[in-house]
Amino acid sequence: MKINQLIEKTGAVTIEQNELLISGIRTEDLLEMYGSPLYVYCEDVIRDHCRRLKNAVSYPHFSINYSMKANSTIALLKIIREEGLSVDVMSPGEIYCATLAGFKKEEIFFVSNNVDLQEFAYAKEHDIRISVDSLSQLEMFGKAFSGSKVAVRINPGIGDGHHKKVITGGDATKFGIHVSHLDSIKEIAKKYDLHIHGLNMHIGSNFLEYGSYMAAGKVLCDIAKNFDSLEFIDIGGGLGVNYKEGNKGLDIEGLGSNMDRLFNQFAIEYGKEIKFFIEPGRFIVAESGLLLTRVCSRKENPNRTYIGCDSGFNVLMRPMAYGSYHEIVHCQSVEGERETLSVVGNICETGDILAENRALPKVNVDNVLAILDAGAYGYSMASNYNSRLRPAELLVTSAGERQIIRKRDELTDLISSQLVNNEPVG
Ligand code: LLP
Repeated sequence: MKINQLIEKTGAVTIEQNELLISGIRTEDLLEMYGSPLYVYCEDVIRDHCRRLKNAVSYPHFSINYSMKANSTIALLKIIREEGLSVDVMSPGEIYCATLAGFKKEEIFFVSNNVDLQEFAYAKEHDIRISVDSLSQLEMFGKAFSGSKVAVRINPGIGDGHHKKVITGGDATKFGIHVSHLDSIKEIAKKYDLHIHGLNMHIGSNFLEYGSYMAAGKVLCDIAKNFDSLEFIDIGGGLGVNYKEGNKGLDIEGLGSNMDRLFNQFAIEYGKEIKFFIEPGRFIVAESGLLLTRVCSRKENPNRTYIGCDSGFNVLMRPMAYGSYHEIVHCQSVEGERETLSVVGNICETGDILAENRALPKVNVDNVLAILDAGAYGYSMASNYNSRLRPAELLVTSAGERQIIRKRDELTDLISSQLVNNEPVG
């Protein structure tokens, strides 16, 4: 999303005299107050995206399960819950955080992948719906919990997404049970008296055209007719956002009408209006977040100028992991004559690049850069690599208040779980 679109969507971000302000405050002052780098989220944008998606679909038994791997910060989960969304989780840790955020057991769906029996047991103890994604996991689940309800994740044979590492349907993926194994699912279910009450899929992340998603949804609905007492079908997440200026964003309203058609048609053919879920993560939070980072150096090599800032791939991993593009705004000079710069972080690897050969207004030491669309898979993928401290997270509420929703790490956090000779360190 472009900065002007962000400004249109929220009062939290403004430009005055060519300077980017957040809740009326200069970015260097914010970094002084809360430390640099700093994740900032706009509540307005999260709420707006939840509502836009809800309003796009009119099928009566439709729910949106926010995929909390995109951002699992509890203050944000609470906002999403207030908007009436449920949640999709991937681990006991996510079940724990979702519960703390107030999601009830029936609002949580555990979409497991290669888990051990203890993780299934944790979800069962909390009475949470579970999906399994291989025949051997179904067998493991059945042996331990015969007579239970369980959902199965199907690979519909179609994948999509912004990078091969995030495509989760089709031939080259570890996810889901292959369509050719339907009979085996039924045999294992029968052997352990399991009730297959749901089918789910997720074909990949960040698509901007919904053709493959709907085609895969249709495949899943056709498969669903082989199971006679389903309660729900979950067609997954992956709804994309517009990271790059000039790209056309996902047509949410068009997608919504297509989903309505698919769900209603299935209800007629199945003879029952079962529940339908989707599992978006990125669409809900990505555009609400920006990452502020301070410029610490400027290096003019013969062929390339490097802008070195204090945010490495331990803070925002997407550019390093997938070559992902994020818009960058020069907070002290939003518009200005541009030069070609490579923006890099402070991690000890050559691949620690946030943006390569980007046209930006002239950047100097002590300037602040805002990296846009950093609300999804930003903090949730951050690490302490190089023993660096993960940043604080700041929420700008719809009322314009600033709330710290996660403190910056302290040096002692780096050693809090370590032992030497069985004794705590430090
Ligand atoms: N459901 C399942 C089962 C998933 O595995 C995922 C994402 C989602 C839903 C939500 O997908 P979304 O709507 O956010 O695209 N780190 C990568 C994205 C990895 C996605 C992993 N699974 C990135 O930064 O692009």
